[in-house]
Amino acid sequence: MHSFGYRANALLTFSVMVLALMCAMASLSDNLNSPSPSANVQVLKVNRFQKSTQGNDEVSMTLNISANLQSLFTWNTKQVFVFLAAEYETPKNSLNQVSLWDGIIPSIEHAKFSIHTTNKYRFTDQGSNLRGKEYDLTLHWHVMPKTGKMFADKLVMTGFRLPEEYR
Ligand SMILES: *[C@@H]1O[C@H](CO)[C@@H](O)[C@H](O)[C@H]1NC(C)=O
Repeated sequence: MHSFGYRANALLTFSVMVLALMCAMASLSDNLNSPSPSANVQVLKVNRFQKSTQGNDEVSMTLNISANLQSLFTWNTKQVFVFLAAEYETPKNSLNQVSLWDGIIPSIEHAKFSIHTTNKYRFTDQGSNLRGKEYDLTLHWHVMPKTGKMFADKLVMTGFRLPEEYR
């Protein structure tokens, strides 16, 4: 009796320790993976560029978002959240960040993609600073692991500029 309970307990303790060790090794080996994602975004067309009745500049554009995020996936990756943001400077804010598009990548098979889309979220300024404005398009990603810490990184694409005139 006593010995059975003792052994069951020891077995349970041992199993939990093994499990904890495996989780630790999993997130450790995951940290050794140094991913090298690539991305390329083209603004195919500025469809609309106007000042709204509230006085804020608003842009509608057609984008070609291509990326290869396959190296972010290890056996410990649950999914990857990505978003594309327009980032620019104004006299008021050193960083304005407007999310234009986002998506969830469920598996490595979906991690290489090319999407032809208009901005899913409004590209609106807090004011009318966008005429002739230079901006970056930054692809941000958050890797959600099965076990261990989430990590985030980004790729900045520079050299974009909005038209000088509303259209
Ligand atoms: C989108 O970009 C990819 C990769 O740069 C390119 O192969 C493809 O032709 C582009 N598509 C359009 C519609 O421009």
